[in-house]
Amino acid sequence: MTRILITSAIPYINGVKHLGTLVGSQLPADLYARFMRQRGAEVLFLCATDEHGTPAELAATKAGLAIEDYCTQMHETQAELSRGFRLSFDHFGRSSSVQNKRLTQYFAGVLAENGFIEERSEKQVYSNTDGRFLPDRYIEGTCPNCGYERARGDQCENCTKQLDPTDLINPRSVISGSTDLEVRETKHLYLKQSALKDDLDAWIDSKTDWPILTTSIAKKWLHDGDGLQDRGITRDLYWGVPVQKGEEPWPGMEGKVFYVWFDAPIEYLACAAEWSDANGTEDEAWWRWWRTDEGADDVRYVQFMGKDNVPFHTLSFPATIMGSREPWKLVDYIKSFNFLNYEGGQFSTSLGRGVFMDDALEILPSDYWRWWLLSNAPETSDTEFTWEKFQAGVNKDLADVLGNFVSRITKFCRSKFGQEVPAGGEIGDGGTALIAELEGRISTYVGHMEAMEVRKAAAELRAIWVAGNEFLQAAAPWSTIKTDVDRAAADTRLALNLIRVYAVLSAPFIPDASAAMLAAMRTEETIWPGDLTTALSRLPPGHGFDVPDVLFRKVLDEEREEWAARFAGSDN
Ligand code: 2FM
Ligand code: ZN
Repeated sequence: MTRILITSAIPYINGVKHLGTLVGSQLPADLYARFMRQRGAEVLFLCATDEHGTPAELAATKAGLAIEDYCTQMHETQAELSRGFRLSFDHFGRSSSVQNKRLTQYFAGVLAENGFIEERSEKQVYSNTDGRFLPDRYIEGTCPNCGYERARGDQCENCTKQLDPTDLINPRSVISGSTDLEVRETKHLYLKQSALKDDLDAWIDSKTDWPILTTSIAKKWLHDGDGLQDRGITRDLYWGVPVQKGEEPWPGMEGKVFYVWFDAPIEYLACAAEWSDANGTEDEAWWRWWRTDEGADDVRYVQFMGKDNVPFHTLSFPATIMGSREPWKLVDYIKSFNFLNYEGGQFSTSLGRGVFMDDALEILPSDYWRWWLLSNAPETSDTEFTWEKFQAGVNKDLADVLGNFVSRITKFCRSKFGQEVPAGGEIGDGGTALIAELEGRISTYVGHMEAMEVRKAAAELRAIWVAGNEFLQAAAPWSTIKTDVDRAAADTRLALNLIRVYAVLSAPFIPDASAAMLAAMRTEETIWPGDLTTALSRLPPGHGFDVPDVLFRKVLDEEREEWAARFAGSDN
């Protein structure tokens, strides 16, 4: 059986995520996981909260909570929202787990033994006003690469260049805004990524099937400018994985922790260990997903992430894995996404601008969001959420096309034949043509889903729904019943069966509506439609059904306006 390991970029613990984050990693990862499970693959789908680093520390301080308690609470909040969006993780872990601590320290130890870690005395920015060393993210200034004025000390959001805080022009403290900064001496560990440059280069060259977005970002940081830089992997912070060489202390590194970007991707492994421990399986059972000498060479490993995460996943994390010189699995395919913007600007947590996961579920059920976001996923370029586009997409695709089809045929059958699949008759040319069309479209849909072409898959699914509506419109059993009851019965039977097939095909996109459709058709038969003629006769004459409640309601103009005003943010 095909085995697929799927990870989504693990969201930072501090705060509820906005829809742009969701559509850039967790949601398409879930789409793929659900589809692959349906197709019979053995899937392990992992995600976690990314809990270390300064943003978490500062958010906890702001909330008046001990950092440990803050993370526990926020992890539960994010887990609850993931359930709300029906994200079907096999495990939703925590990068602060003991498993991750152990593995992070283990990798650091092995990398040191292999000569890929170097101690460097370095100068670090100290804020006199704040009385502390400033972590990279808490220094802002102008990007030396592109001139963006709000570049952070670790990375420029605008051009994605990885930075060191001392690269910034006109640096200031994000905490206090103070420019009273000085550079002090401190000792840190560096991962010698540059020593692995040729390995990384050859590895990326071998990935000829990767999306251009992924490889172009990787290549850029390998070859542009000064090329691949060694990375500082320790920080002067309280919260994080304490710096140790495996289980041994690391002289001179007391009181320091690993940099969050060093331990976060290691959580992908640790999360498998957490999952395995939570299921009470024996020690290291998770190695069959992660160690190529323990069976993981049969696993296809796919990662999902936003473009800002690509450098860390194509260079830094693979450097950790390669530098271990141990048979840990490298990623096979990286699906990356551009950004989703909000109404002509960016989503902003601080300004309360845009729709966040909790807001979204408060105003509409998750399937509405899942459908719109996935069918507009920012694959080839940045895309924009606007309330008008959202209203139009949801009303047309979900209410007018799919919802209308289901409601129309079930109501018609109930009124003319009763609540059972009618017997009699043979389908006519219209039905035959529909089956032929759907066969072609379903195989195109499968191709797009396998290739993780999310928008194209959504467009094909929409076309599959449209074909059903058009068939019904043309067959018009409400007319033919007056002259040819058998034909009306056969067409109605076909359309009722189509509801079940639609439920199966649509489940990865809209799992709740899919479940409602199956329940209405009083069936749990969810196997993937192979031969369509057979699939469309699974509900035989006499099989009972119910007319479901409205599957999808329309978004009203008043609501659209109210929500646009409510989520416009404090600067408006
Ligand atoms: O951008 C983010 O939200 C990061 N927390 C992603 C980390 S992904 C991985 F490395 F764990
Ligand atoms: Zn820049």
